[in-house]
Amino acid sequence: YMVDKGNHRHFMEKEIYEQPEVISHALGHYVDFTENRVSAAASAIDFARIPSLAISACGTAYLAGLIGKYWFERYARLPVEIDVASEFRYRDIPLSPDAAALFISQSGETADTLASLRYCKDLGLTIGAVVNASESTIARSSDAVFPILAGPEIGVASTKAFTCQLAVLAALAVGAGRARGTISIEEERVLVRHLAEMPRIMASVLNAIQPKMESLARELSKCRDVLYLGRGTSFPLAMEGALKLKEISYIHAEGYAAGELKHGPIALIDENMPVIVIAPHDRFFEKTISNMQEVAARGGRIIFITDERGAAASKLETMSTIVLPNVDELIAPMIFSLPIQLLAYHTAVFMGTDVDQPRNLAKSVTVE
Ligand code: G6P
Repeated sequence: YMVDKGNHRHFMEKEIYEQPEVISHALGHYVDFTENRVSAAASAIDFARIPSLAISACGTAYLAGLIGKYWFERYARLPVEIDVASEFRYRDIPLSPDAAALFISQSGETADTLASLRYCKDLGLTIGAVVNASESTIARSSDAVFPILAGPEIGVASTKAFTCQLAVLAALAVGAGRARGTISIEEERVLVRHLAEMPRIMASVLNAIQPKMESLARELSKCRDVLYLGRGTSFPLAMEGALKLKEISYIHAEGYAAGELKHGPIALIDENMPVIVIAPHDRFFEKTISNMQEVAARGGRIIFITDERGAAASKLETMSTIVLPNVDELIAPMIFSLPIQLLAYHTAVFMGTDVDQPRNLAKSVTVE
């Protein structure tokens, strides 16, 4: 299978711009767009009959799982236990054999994720795999396989696999909500329509924000540390933004829950450390704004990633504000992934690092 960069400088850039297309492809597998219902592919696990769900993964796939936890709990009222695979497998978590466990992995070969899977299998849980490589060891060891259909991902820093993992998890959570009766058919239809809008919105966002992300990246490339903040599903996204930046630009970055700012990272804030705040105008917006005020009051430079409603509602002065379209809460994490990916990508390009093959990292980690 030959893959080339097309007109792009790096595979990572190509994979970022491929997202509208691959997400549309992935969604087509899990969603019936004529009925606006979740399709049978999403119910390979009987979510109605399980008492709880365990999720385990590594790296970016783990952060997709963390966002999935918010969705399974909110839409399907399904309690979710989640941890990075290298902790999950050693924690002696009290897991019911009636429960199901989802393992998320782009490669399907990550050693710790596979070990967590085998551990759950021995305990008798139903095993589901959310994978890009459907012939992988993790896929072959599972009862149910949920392919993310992202196509080959070459860049070591995961981009399109992350958003496709999210798209699949979103469809599974909505399907689980229907199966468990925690959302109505009407609610399902509304949520599925939001999912269906995603590819078009992603394409227009990618097109609109590119120049701004490039000029912001020039600023970021001069920094030693960056703090990312978010609340709700924007919290795992903040961690993903920080992870992307670390991985390819080697700038030290941390992703923090906005509400935890005052319990530590606020001590680091000065005019040299940019604080990137991810805050769509959702249920938590006002709370996150007050955290931003704490940053501003200490001279921190804020890069504010929000939507049109959020931009209109905030009076705070920022170093830069990136305004995305207003979207439903369910799809916001996928849309808000785009600026954080482009920011990391362009920062790395300015720094002159090896974007597709960052030092010390591997695409597939088969050692524990
Ligand atoms: C490595 C890669 C990451 C990836 C992680 C999990 O660390 O560099 O990009 O998120 O492994 O990989 P997986 O294939 O299991 O998703």
